[in-house]
Amino acid sequence: MTHVRNVWYVAAWEQDLPEAQPFAITILDEPIVVYRSEGRLVALEDRCVHRMAPLSLGRCEGARLRCMYHGLLFDPDGKVVEIPGQELIPAQARVRSYPVVEKHSWIWVWMGDPARADEALIPPAVGSDDTDWFLGCGQLDYAASAELIHDNLCDFSHLSFVHANSFGATEDWAHTRPRVTPLARGVRFERWVPAQKGMRAREAAEPVDAWSAYDYLVPGVLLMKSASYPGGTAERLGFAPPPPDLEGASGVTFTSQAVTAMTAKTARYFFSWGPHRDHGDEALRDMLMGIAGQAFGEDKAMIEAQQRVIDATPNPRVMPTSADKGVTLYQRLVERLAREEAGEGRAAA
Ligand code: FES
Ligand SMILES: [Fe+2]
Repeated sequence: MTHVRNVWYVAAWEQDLPEAQPFAITILDEPIVVYRSEGRLVALEDRCVHRMAPLSLGRCEGARLRCMYHGLLFDPDGKVVEIPGQELIPAQARVRSYPVVEKHSWIWVWMGDPARADEALIPPAVGSDDTDWFLGCGQLDYAASAELIHDNLCDFSHLSFVHANSFGATEDWAHTRPRVTPLARGVRFERWVPAQKGMRAREAAEPVDAWSAYDYLVPGVLLMKSASYPGGTAERLGFAPPPPDLEGASGVTFTSQAVTAMTAKTARYFFSWGPHRDHGDEALRDMLMGIAGQAFGEDKAMIEAQQRVIDATPNPRVMPTSADKGVTLYQRLVERLAREEAGEGRAAA
């Protein structure tokens, strides 16, 4: 699998990390323990140097973590500071420590060179601390590779078929193409789907023009704003993006989503969704999250089934269509960034 390492991966929702309760997750095949204790947020290799017991079964002692097999005590930087019954602590007695940051309701872990970790590279997701939005949150584990989920999220033509029931998406989603723009660290997708009755507006009598715009950023973070406008707006604007102050917007929502590759064939999918405070309340948030729960279950069923077919195929080959422009752009971006990192690694060695 090709992955970018010098990038922030979502490891958990902040509320899933209570004080002094170590949390385990595997990212890019590396077992990691995350904990917060006495104001410190720490991410370490989840494998004791002594006999490889998971430190996530350990006990927080102040900002330190004790392995609860034979009691080695680790500093937040991964260094062993105590071996019960032994004076000498070998110099190599340390586990890897990872840069870790809490932001936008997520715990982010930097999987690459710690010296390159830059908080400015954390994608501008919207967290529950942003009072402009009423957001619900959820997550799903996939028995499929993260790449298949990236492909899914970079091509919404599947909405017409996978999500006809949940999102109420019409076939227009498959028959129209978004405007796709490469970004330095992702791909931007923008589109009008005119005369819609789906989504929030399913109860509306008059069809509306649905606008949606999202960025898909490495290593798999989707940030999307959606809104509806009176029918005819898209044509009047010549299908250009609606100016931020354009009158008549309804059903304005935001979703942040993150795909984290755990192993080659497993991934965790984190998502939030909800209305802008001027366009809804907690009740609408809960209704949208109910729809999202159904819709993301539809994606999971299709993608896991797709993975099983790929695994049973000797030389799997795909045949891209014109709907795959964004998929291909994102794949090429990841390959290029991974290649650059490999080149830098060789130069440094
Ligand atoms: S395995 Fe951790 S102290 Fe023995
Ligand atoms: Fe989907």
